[in-house]
Parts: sequence; structure tokens; C-alpha cells
Amino acid sequence: MKEHSGPSDAAADTDLLRRALGTFATGVTVVTVGGETPHAMTANSFTSVSLDPPLVLVCVEHSAVMHSSLLARGTFGVSVLAAHQEPVARQFASRLRPLGLAQFDAVDWRPGRLTGAPLIEGALAHLECGLWRSYDGGDHTIFVGTLLSVEKQADSDAVVFFRGRFRQLSPDLPAQR
Ligand SMILES: Cc1cc2nc3c(=O)[nH]c(=O)nc-3n(C[C@H](O)[C@H](O)[C@H](O)COP(=O)(O)O)c2cc1C
Repeated sequence: MKEHSGPSDAAADTDLLRRALGTFATGVTVVTVGGETPHAMTANSFTSVSLDPPLVLVCVEHSAVMHSSLLARGTFGVSVLAAHQEPVARQFASRLRPLGLAQFDAVDWRPGRLTGAPLIEGALAHLECGLWRSYDGGDHTIFVGTLLSVEKQADSDAVVFFRGRFRQLSPDLPAQR
């Protein structure tokens, strides 16, 4: 039987909400800010918004360290993670990691040319963004960034997040005749 929840139950049943929304497969990014106390956070809420002007967004929970770091810095970087970078995603999602530069100890990165935001080596793409607008998103803030620089890196596959787990893409099916 299908699990069903009416409009009024939906908000109350966070477990059902999580499981239903977790069926939307996403890529995985690491959002970073530079400066004296650099910071990084794994995020799958990253979305492209507009080509002209070029805008992207990321939703950050109010309680995340990234929330105040991003507001204070006003610029951020985004690294789109490749298939082999699941450990990187886990590192920057862990509440146990140290803060500041030490959280990057086990990761290869370089500072973005325009913002100083750490960009993760081996990622599929690197973006540098200026904070354009921010919007109330309930327990998250929706940060919209204007693109300052874009670099496409490797051509390899992405790591995917689906139903609360990291996944790998399946090889392409043979073309149908
Ligand atoms: C795959 C994945 C995606 C995530 N996406 C987001 C996200 O988009 N926004 C968010 O606020 N937290 C997201 N998180 C949770 C944060 O990465 C996690 O809470 C992190 O510890 C916050 O770091 P900070 O408080 O040190 O900034 C995600 C976690 C995982 C594993």
C-alpha cells in the first residue's frame, strides 16, 4: 500500500517527509568560504538558478557554522564532487571535524583566485560566487550567489545522493535501436 499523508499530516510527519524528499537524487557539493578562518560544508541543496545573470543557490541551515561564515565573508566557493570523493563529502558533513584550516588537513585544495574560497582538487567543477541575495527558507536560509568564476575540471562521473545514501552512477545502457 502507498504511504499517504494529507496536507495537514505532512508537516508533522518529518520522517515521511525526509523519505519522500530523499527520492529526489542530487549531486553533492562542498561549499566553502575563505579568509582567516576558512570553512567548508557538504551541501546537496545546490541548484543552478539563472544563466543571465549567472546565479546559483545553496540552502544552509541556521544552526550550521557555514551560515554565519558565509554571511560574514560575502563570497563562497562551490566544488562539485566526483564519484571518488565520497570521503570528502563525509568529512565536511561530520560534526566531529575540527574547525578552521585543520578541517582541510586530509583534503587537497587550493584557494580560489577571486575569493580565496578553498576549491577541492579532483572535483568536477569549481565555482566562485559573490553573495547576491538571501531569502528566508524556514530553518534554512536560501543564499543566491552571482558567479564570479567557473572552471570545469574532470570529465569523470559524479557522486550521487539518493534515499539518504551516497551512490555511484550506473554505466550507460547500450543505445536502443
Ligand atoms: C549529502 C549531504 C548533503 C547535505 N546538504 C546540506 C545542505 O544543503 N544544507 C545544509 O545546511 N546542510 C547540509 N548537510 C548537512 C551539513 O553538511 C552538516 O550539518 C555539516 O556538519 C554542517 O557543517 P557546519 O555546521 O560546520 O557548517 C548535508 C549533509 C550531507 C551528508
